[in-house]
Amino acid sequence: MYFTKVKKVVRHNKKVSTLYFDLKIASYPGQFVMLYLPGYEEIPLSLSSPSSVTVKAVGETTQALVMADEGIAVGIRGAFGNPFSPSDKALIIAGGIGIAPMKYLYDFLKKCGADIKVIYGEKSEGDLIWTDEFENLIITTEDGSAGIKGTVLDAVNKEDLSRYSRIYACGNSEMLKAVYGVLKKAEVLHKAEFSLERFMRCGIGVCGSCVIENGLRVCNDGPVFPATVIGNL
Ligand SMILES: Cc1cc2nc3c(=O)[nH]c(=O)nc-3n(C[C@H](O)[C@H](O)[C@H](O)COP(=O)(O)OP(=O)(O)OC[C@H]3O[C@@H](n4cnc5c(N)ncnc54)[C@H](O)[C@@H]3O)c2cc1C
Ligand code: FES
Repeated sequence: MYFTKVKKVVRHNKKVSTLYFDLKIASYPGQFVMLYLPGYEEIPLSLSSPSSVTVKAVGETTQALVMADEGIAVGIRGAFGNPFSPSDKALIIAGGIGIAPMKYLYDFLKKCGADIKVIYGEKSEGDLIWTDEFENLIITTEDGSAGIKGTVLDAVNKEDLSRYSRIYACGNSEMLKAVYGVLKKAEVLHKAEFSLERFMRCGIGVCGSCVIENGLRVCNDGPVFPATVIGNL
């Protein structure tokens, strides 16, 4: 583990902040770090850029990170895990804080000249972040306060999925299950990659706490998996 300073904190809303580190982590989009805030648990967080994580408060550690002050020191292990594969015509599907790794992916693919569409769903307008950062963006909100009323599914169902060379998805397991079903029906699963989340302890394939149904470890074999490998989530 190495320690770095948090040089900047952007508070997107009450529940979500981006913490920028004093260093650039050698990484690719989709990889995660194990982050240790002294006094709290070490937790896995996807990189939202080579030098940042974007955190949503769901428990004690994430709440402390969302409220963290600039200048604090955090311990980092990683980057770990398998990244997303590059593509030239990309559809990015993100639900909730699943937008964090997708921001890094979007910026990376954009630099490579890719044609990218982003479908991003949240519960309500106030939960959305980075809406000015994506050129070709379709928003969905469950309460209809912004974009299409509904979930990302309502937007995905309107897409001609055959025009994309790669489809990337990250969100809660309910969302991923539903997206999996739509992609399977459209016979495009072979070009889809899903980023999964599971409870993690070691982050390096040793402890077994992140094993999924087919015996794969999310930390080592993922967190990004070809959709054809994960089967029924
Ligand atoms: C590879 C990976 C990348 C992740 N990237 C991000 C990210 O970029 N931004 C972000 O905000 N969060 C991310 N998470 C989730 C984050 O690790 C958890 O929210 C965090 O560990 C919760 O810690 P806590 O102490 O605040 O809450 P806890 O008290 O541990 O848990 C609070 C609630 O969150 C649930 N929870 C805890 N851990 C997870 C988990 N891993 N997946 C789903 N639910 C969980 C618990 O069941 C409980 O309901 C990622 C998780 C993984 C495995
Ligand atoms: S977190 Fe220990 S094996 Fe994956």
